[in-house]
Amino acid sequence: MSPQEAAQKILAGQLVVFPTETVYGLGALASDQDAVRRIFEAKGRPAHNPLILHIADHEQLDELVHEVSPAAKKLIDCFWPGPLTICFKKKSTVSDLISGGLDTVCVRRPSHPLAHEFLTAVGKPVAAPSANISGKPSTTTSEDARKQLESKGVYFLDGGKTPLGIESTIVDCSGESVVLLRPGSITMEQLEQVLGEKVLDASEPSSVDHVRSPGQLLEHYAPQGELFVLYGSNEKRKGWMDHHVKTPSEWVLGTLSDQAPALSFKAVYFLTPAETDLHAYAAELYAFLNWCDQNDARHILLELPGSSDPLLPSLLNRLKKASRGHIISV
Ligand code: TXA
Ligand code: MG
Repeated sequence: MSPQEAAQKILAGQLVVFPTETVYGLGALASDQDAVRRIFEAKGRPAHNPLILHIADHEQLDELVHEVSPAAKKLIDCFWPGPLTICFKKKSTVSDLISGGLDTVCVRRPSHPLAHEFLTAVGKPVAAPSANISGKPSTTTSEDARKQLESKGVYFLDGGKTPLGIESTIVDCSGESVVLLRPGSITMEQLEQVLGEKVLDASEPSSVDHVRSPGQLLEHYAPQGELFVLYGSNEKRKGWMDHHVKTPSEWVLGTLSDQAPALSFKAVYFLTPAETDLHAYAAELYAFLNWCDQNDARHILLELPGSSDPLLPSLLNRLKKASRGHIISV
């Protein structure tokens, strides 16, 4: 299917899975209440978890939001199109269904060429959460998206593997100060550098009282099996495995090295051979978690390199949820 054909489908009220530079999205025309409602049904997503609006160009933003603060303007100038979602005070043109009843709306302008062609052909905002069943891992290939959603009567725009692999960074620019709601490929350091001011971090709420973004408590990104993340230097990880993995044949290993591990695991998935390349790791992470589900992995050990890369907090944010807090630091 071409981006233009996909646009025809969505304009006719259908749901379309499309690639972005982060993960695949499950899109509906934002102005089509019935189609937006079907996104929640297809994903099994609670109605109070709001959706991000995707736009092709800057002009579309004015129809959706009241005010673009000077801070938001700086971020837009620097990071759009790209993997940054910005939260604004919404206009009444944005339905409560999309905003989950909040008075704000999250908007993003993707840089993926196919997403851009598709959104341009649609010519109107597209509401899209990540293309996965609620709680399951996001998808970075159309094959993985198909495996989760093909029974839902949706259409697929195939764009190969998405380059970044984790969801966009979300910042709230609707209030006095800029607040990070979800870490992603655009790091805290980059945001603060562009803004020339401190960004508050509300991405890891410690209790329900502090939740700024409904998805923080709802999203799990989790495979069906029990996942443990082994975090530390190559040497320490190997040492830990030698001592602690007593029944390797029952475990699936997600590893970094391109050498076969010393133990005989049930199956081994190589995420990236470059120990220090967290970007390559991020790009492969959801493919690995989807592979675990597709292969019915029950016990999963995933290596994560010890690193000072600014991308690390974003990866830990996803992996803490995917492993239900089972991060083993060595
Ligand atoms: O990279 C991405 O952002 C992908 C691609 C498809 O664009 N989309 C994505 O959407 O990750 P989703 O629905 O899986 O995650 C959106 C997150 C949710 O945690 C939701 O709670 C939060 O954004 N969110 C949406 N609107 C919000 C709002 N008005 N205020 C606070 N949080 C909001
Ligand atoms: Mg999601």
